[in-house]
Amino acid sequence: MSSAARQENGPEDRSPVTITRLAEMKEEGLPIAMITAYDFPSAQVVEEVGVDVVLVGDSAANCVLGYDSTVPVGMDEMTILSKAVRRGLKTPLLVGDLPFGSYEASNELAIASAQRLVKEAGCDAVKLEGGGASIDRASAIISAGIPVMGHVGLTPQTATALGGMRAQGRTADVAIKVAEDAIALDQAGCFAIVIEAVPQAVAEMIVNKVEAPTIGIGAGNVTAGQVLVLHDLAGINDGHMAKFVKRYADVRSEMRRGVADYVAEVRSGAFPGPEHVYSVDPAELERLQQRLNREDIESNYSWDWEPLP
Ligand code: KIV
Repeated sequence: MSSAARQENGPEDRSPVTITRLAEMKEEGLPIAMITAYDFPSAQVVEEVGVDVVLVGDSAANCVLGYDSTVPVGMDEMTILSKAVRRGLKTPLLVGDLPFGSYEASNELAIASAQRLVKEAGCDAVKLEGGGASIDRASAIISAGIPVMGHVGLTPQTATALGGMRAQGRTADVAIKVAEDAIALDQAGCFAIVIEAVPQAVAEMIVNKVEAPTIGIGAGNVTAGQVLVLHDLAGINDGHMAKFVKRYADVRSEMRRGVADYVAEVRSGAFPGPEHVYSVDPAELERLQQRLNREDIESNYSWDWEPLP
């Protein structure tokens, strides 16, 4: 069932999205809607609207942890965020992003990190970035029984080596490398592949060469699905946005307005109003007053402790 159909039919008709279902959606030409989430309330929202795949992306580094790139975020942080998202989700497939440094060094490390996101955090699958050694790591994780989503094109964890956060595959030499990575990840058994910041015409050639559903972000409308970062599309993030981001809401302005109104009302005394105050029986209040007026009130406290030696 597509996200649109699930939205129409209401929550009671939703069945969990599986990897098989994603492959069927590709075959049926039903676009896959994927989004990032990093906390419990966001997970509840994306559950309610019927998203197909949720990624606890390492973009959490910038979006919620305040790092200036995705490089510093670690497994402990990704695990905590993934657990929070898991608690808010029932239906979408939950993918945990393997952060930089958690899989590159060896297959053993990659399997252990992937197992942690599945076992401890409750993710259904993991995502890793790039080709090269990542293909071997993907293969090892899949052999260990954990589904893997690949990610080619602009791979933010290694953006420095790619010349910065910029579109990839605008020359045939770079495009062939992106295509080779995607084909190798597909052959390694990845259940889906993210294609990031690649010209649409190049993405189309890659899409036609791989079996797995492709999920585009800045790759045009030729992929089997789309992914955007929640904080970009909802307008929670500030500052420069990549060309491929479309803003669907302005949550940050609304949040700023609410917080500013609160501060102004605290300062003016308008908050809290009578409707935010608890009442008490006047007789109880009178009894309290009498007890507070008693001279021996302090002697009712006894401190039963010995000073430490
Ligand atoms: O970390 C992330 O948010 C991602 C998506 C942009 C695909 O990798």
